[in-house]
Amino acid sequence: MRRRKAGELSIEQTRDLARVRAMLTDAGLMTDGVDWPAACYLLGYLGDDPVGVIGVEPRLDRALIRSLYVTPAMRKRGVGAALVAAARKAAHTRGARALYLFSTDAGAFFQRFGFAEAPVAGVVETLRGVPQVDYYLARPDEFAREAAYHLDISEDGVIRR
Ligand SMILES: CC(C)(COP(=O)(O)OP(=O)(O)OC[C@H]1O[C@@H](n2cnc3c(N)ncnc32)[C@H](O)[C@@H]1OP(=O)(O)O)[C@@H](O)C(=O)NCCC(=O)NCCS
Repeated sequence: MRRRKAGELSIEQTRDLARVRAMLTDAGLMTDGVDWPAACYLLGYLGDDPVGVIGVEPRLDRALIRSLYVTPAMRKRGVGAALVAAARKAAHTRGARALYLFSTDAGAFFQRFGFAEAPVAGVVETLRGVPQVDYYLARPDEFAREAAYHLDISEDGVIRR
């Protein structure tokens, strides 16, 4: 494994789902579906300290990003943006041409990266079968509070000459 440098932010795909679950539980975020085999979880480290997490749930040529969290002491230093960028790359690598997410009150954060609000019902249809969507479909009251966001990533990695 690559050695982490003190004071340097690194983002790594992880198999340590216990750590992911612990971080999300501390944050009060849902952990259902974290162990879905197709999912990808990324941890952000400052040196050797875990400081943030994000998950990607791919489905065919699209992917949902979820479970973004940065520890309070480490916020406003670009860790959140770096995790979103890494999740975008991970989704692209898995064949996604479109990226989606649900959020109650962080929509303005994601709009910084080009995400635009999209009708929730359409996003649910497009992603049926991924754990976070199935979780919400089983809990309509929780779901009613969510807004959905979409970003076209079909041009990621395209080289124009
Ligand atoms: C949202 C979150 C991941 C941002 O992490 P971060 O490491 O601070 O992000 P960055 O440093 O890249 O960006 C910080 C900027 O985003 C803004 N921001 C943070 N949360 C925001 C929100 N909910 N809505 C709008 N803007 C937000 C900050 O005010 C800051 O703005 P500035 O650059 O003008 O000072 C972090 O605040 C967090 O973990 N929040 C609680 C969990 C959460 O809301 N997750 C999203 C679930 S969908």
